[in-house]
Amino acid sequence: MSAPAVDEPTPEPVRELSLLEEAFPSAPVSPVDAPIAEPARAELPEAQPDDTVTVVGLGKIGLPLAVQFATAGFRVIGADINPDVVDQVNNALEPFPGEADLARRLGEVVADRRLTATTDTAAAVARSSTVVIVVPLVVDAEARPDFSIVDAATADVARSLQPGTLVSYETTLPVGTTRTRLAPALAKASRLRLGKDLFVVMSPERVYSGRIFADLARYPKLVGGLDDASTQRGLAFYGRALTFDDRDDLPMPNGVWEVGNSEAAELVKLAETTYRDVNIALANTFAVYADSLGIDFGLIADAANSQPFSQLHRPGVHVGGHCIPVYPRLYLAGDPGARLVSVAREVNEEMPGHVVGLLAGRLAELGVRLDGARVVVLGAAYRGGVKEIFHSGVFPLVRRLGELGAIPLVHDPLYSDSELRALGFEPYHYGDPCEAAIVQADHEEYADLRAAQLPGVRAIVDGRGVTHAIDWQDVDHTVLGRPSGAAAQRGGTES
Ligand SMILES: NC(=O)c1ccc[n+]([C@@H]2O[C@H](COP(=O)([O-])OP(=O)(O)OC[C@H]3O[C@@H](n4cnc5c(N)ncnc54)[C@H](O)[C@@H]3O)[C@@H](O)[C@H]2O)c1
Repeated sequence: MSAPAVDEPTPEPVRELSLLEEAFPSAPVSPVDAPIAEPARAELPEAQPDDTVTVVGLGKIGLPLAVQFATAGFRVIGADINPDVVDQVNNALEPFPGEADLARRLGEVVADRRLTATTDTAAAVARSSTVVIVVPLVVDAEARPDFSIVDAATADVARSLQPGTLVSYETTLPVGTTRTRLAPALAKASRLRLGKDLFVVMSPERVYSGRIFADLARYPKLVGGLDDASTQRGLAFYGRALTFDDRDDLPMPNGVWEVGNSEAAELVKLAETTYRDVNIALANTFAVYADSLGIDFGLIADAANSQPFSQLHRPGVHVGGHCIPVYPRLYLAGDPGARLVSVAREVNEEMPGHVVGLLAGRLAELGVRLDGARVVVLGAAYRGGVKEIFHSGVFPLVRRLGELGAIPLVHDPLYSDSELRALGFEPYHYGDPCEAAIVQADHEEYADLRAAQLPGVRAIVDGRGVTHAIDWQDVDHTVLGRPSGAAAQRGGTES
C-alpha cells in the first residue's frame, strides 16, 4: 500500500521511468525529478486530443478502462502498486482471465505504445491532464467503510498533480466522500484550488466483469462534479473517451449524463446496487415461504414479472462478490437509519444457514445424520465462471457445516487443490465418496453434474437453481425456492 496522505508536497528520489519516457518522450518534466514548485495560478487551456490519462488501479475494472481510453485515442499510463500487474500489462498479458476481448485490445494498445504501465503513480500523474482512480473501497470486520486504499491512492495522486488536471473517482463511494474527504486531500497536498486549477468529479463505474467493453457502450456514463467547472471537464473527457449504443428505452439519448453533483453520482451507484440486494432479500423471503407451502417460487416470480410493475429477482444461497453485499454497507454509512437496507442484508446473510438447515432436514428424513457426514460444497467462487472468492457463500456454508459436526469438502473447477487448501478448505474430487452436497456457485458444469460423480450422495440442495432433477433420480434433490419433485426447471439465481 502507498504512503498515507501527506500535508506538504515533498521532493521524492528520482525513480526509473524508462518505459514511460520511451512512450512519452515529450512529456513535461515530472515533479518527482525536481522539487515541486508552487503551481501556476493561471487559467488553463481546454484539454487537447493528445492528452495523457493516468488510470490508478489496473484491476478487473481499471485495466479494461485504461484499454478503452487508449483505444479512444488517449495516451494512457496505468498505475498500480502491484509490480507483477505492471509487468504483465507492459508485456500485453492479461493479469486475470475472463474479460471478453481484453487480450486482443490490450495487445493492440500496448503494441502501439498508447498504453504503458508503472508502479510510480506520482510520476504518471505529473504527465497527465486527466487522472481516473478506480481502486477498491472495502468494508472492515464491523462492516464499516475502510478508506485506506482510496486514501493512499489519493495521496499518491496529490503529490504531483499539475494545474488544470481533472481527477475522476470511479470507485464506488459512500455519499459525500468525494467532496468532504478526497477532494480536500487532493487540494491540500497539491496546493491547487478546487474548481480553479483542480477539477474533481465522481463517475461511478457500473460495468459487469466479463463484459466490460459491451457495458461501457451500453450504459450511460454518469458524471457529477464538485462544481460546474469540474462537471464540464468530466463531461468533455468521457464524451471523448466513450462511445455509446443507441438505446430507445432510456429517458434521454444514451451518452454521458450529468447527474447534478458528486453526491448524486455516488448515490446513483449505491441506489442501483442496494436495490438489487433488497430485491434479492425479498425473493429469498418469498422463496422460503413458497418452500413451506410446496409452491415453486420460480413460477411465482415469472408470473408476477409478467406485468411491468414487478421485477422480482431470483433467490440464492448467498450474495457475494465485491459489490452487492458491500455497497448497502456504504449506503448505510451515509444513512444509518435506513432499516430496510439493514434488514435486507440480514436476510441475505441468513441464507447459508437456511440452506444448511434444509439439507439437515432432508438428511434426517432419510435417516442420515448431518453430524459426521461428508458434505460437498460445489463452488468456492462467489458466482459461476468467475475466479473470485470475495464474500463468497462458501465461507459461511463451510463454517455452519463444521459447527453442526459435518465434514465440509469443497469443489471448484476454477481452483486447484493447493489454492483451495490455502483458503482453508479440504478439496473434493468427483468420484470421492460423500453423503451430501450443496450447490453454492452456478458454474456451468454443475448443470450437467450427475449423481454418479458424487458416489454415495444421498441428498443435494441446489442453492442456485442450476441442477436438473432428472439427473438426481435416486438422490433427494432440493432446489432453493422449488419444492422437491416440482417438474419445472428454471433459470439461475442472483449473485
Ligand atoms: N469488480 C467489479 O465488478 C466492479 C464493477 C463496478 C465497479 N467496480 C468498482 O471498481 C473498484 C475496483 O474494482 P476491481 O474489481 O477493479 O478491483 P481489483 O481488486 O480487481 O483491482 C484493484 C487494483 O488496484 C490496485 N491498487 C490498490 N491500491 C492501489 C494504489 N494505492 N495505487 C494504485 N493501484 C492500487 C491493486 O493492486 C489492484 O490491481 C471497486 O472497488 C468498485 O468500486 C467494480
